[in-house]
Amino acid sequence: MKVVIIGTGHVGLPIGVYLAEIGHDVVCVDKVETIIDSLNNGKITFLFEEGLEELFQRNFKSNKIKFTTSFSHVNDADVVIISVGTSKHVYNASTKLAEYLKGYTVIAIKSTVPVGCNDEIENLIAKVNPEADFDVVSLPEFLREGFAVFDSFNPDRIIIGTESERPISIIKELYGNCNKEKLFFVSRRSAEAIKYASNSFLAMKIHFINEMSDFCKEFNASIREVAEGMGLDKRIGDEFLTPGPGYGGFCFPKDTHEILNMAKNNGVNLSLIETTIKNNKNRMSKLSENILYETNKIKANKIAILGLTFKGGTDDCRNSPAITIINLLLKHFTYNIITYDPKGMKNAKNLLGNKVDYGKDVYDTVKGADVLVILTDWMEFKKLDLRKLKSSMNHHIIIDLRNMIDKNKALKLGFTYIGL
Ligand code: UGA
Repeated sequence: MKVVIIGTGHVGLPIGVYLAEIGHDVVCVDKVETIIDSLNNGKITFLFEEGLEELFQRNFKSNKIKFTTSFSHVNDADVVIISVGTSKHVYNASTKLAEYLKGYTVIAIKSTVPVGCNDEIENLIAKVNPEADFDVVSLPEFLREGFAVFDSFNPDRIIIGTESERPISIIKELYGNCNKEKLFFVSRRSAEAIKYASNSFLAMKIHFINEMSDFCKEFNASIREVAEGMGLDKRIGDEFLTPGPGYGGFCFPKDTHEILNMAKNNGVNLSLIETTIKNNKNRMSKLSENILYETNKIKANKIAILGLTFKGGTDDCRNSPAITIINLLLKHFTYNIITYDPKGMKNAKNLLGNKVDYGKDVYDTVKGADVLVILTDWMEFKKLDLRKLKSSMNHHIIIDLRNMIDKNKALKLGFTYIGL
């Protein structure tokens, strides 16, 4: 099958590589020439995804995946997948691809778009190219950044929203024998809504456990044990119950806002989502005030911050709680903030510039620091050598907003430990 993917970002590229790996001929289209040039030179320079490089190299070398800025490959595609950042980009891409359509084509919208947008895309394409023979299906994506390859091969479900029977066999062929049993066909509007409902629910779940961690702290209960105990109930489930500085990233903040706007514009009350958005933001302010309180208490000169990405396993710093908290600290803390992240330094530098210093590694970063703050859940932060930290730091305060450090070990070594 020939598949054209429009947009080679965090979703488009891993999906393209996955579809090439399971046997399709894939052409990825992106308007950013530098991205296409680097991909054509066999290099992924703009994003980090565990396991992607190896799959990419294999399929690139065997010509199963190609890259171009031109939409012309649409004309002999069986499926065109649109995977661009916003609905505005989806409209632009649809207008452009419409003129190249030839023969029956399934156009699958992977980008998260407002409910009803697929209907509009269908009308738009029919208007630009009245001769075109096509169906628009909603194919929302549920993969997580950092786990894009794993999630592509192991999805919980593949939701397909369609208004006609015709694309069904083509979508089945697209996924071949892999994950056949995971396909779930619904109406197009339901598929669009499932995406928003899922992300909003997960954001709410995180917000719930964050509030519960405040509650447990007050009552001297362990949030780790409480989350584990709750998670044993299948109806609750044990995932997305890890407290942190608030959810971030490209998707949750955007999708919760969008669904709330859709609801408000149509007189529907989504009070839980509204509260989640408001208090997720407040949480970051409250946590930065807590950090300032601790730093002021000891008249700290230097704060070391570990973690800049919105979560571990990615280089993405978009809407990262770490960046938000650092910016809030910078409003009041006039001394030195030094930061480090295993993968996110380049993206963080674009956002923070020279407002902070950057360490070479963990131990270089904490040298002479009065307070260590952990803001991202990188696995390597779980394995920190606390003795080495102790001898490098000036004062010995750890503020661990991801509960990465063994509290008892830290206390035993003489650290002041503040977790969630
Ligand atoms: C999220 C969804 O999980 C995916 O299913 C979806 O496909 C994707 O959005 C999307 O719409 O494209 P992602 O943004 O990669 O994926 O990130 P998550 O792993 O969901 O984490 C989001 C935020 O919640 C991060 O800041 C993370 O640190 C935080 N989080 C997550 C917690 O604080 N606690 C948890 O238990 C889980």
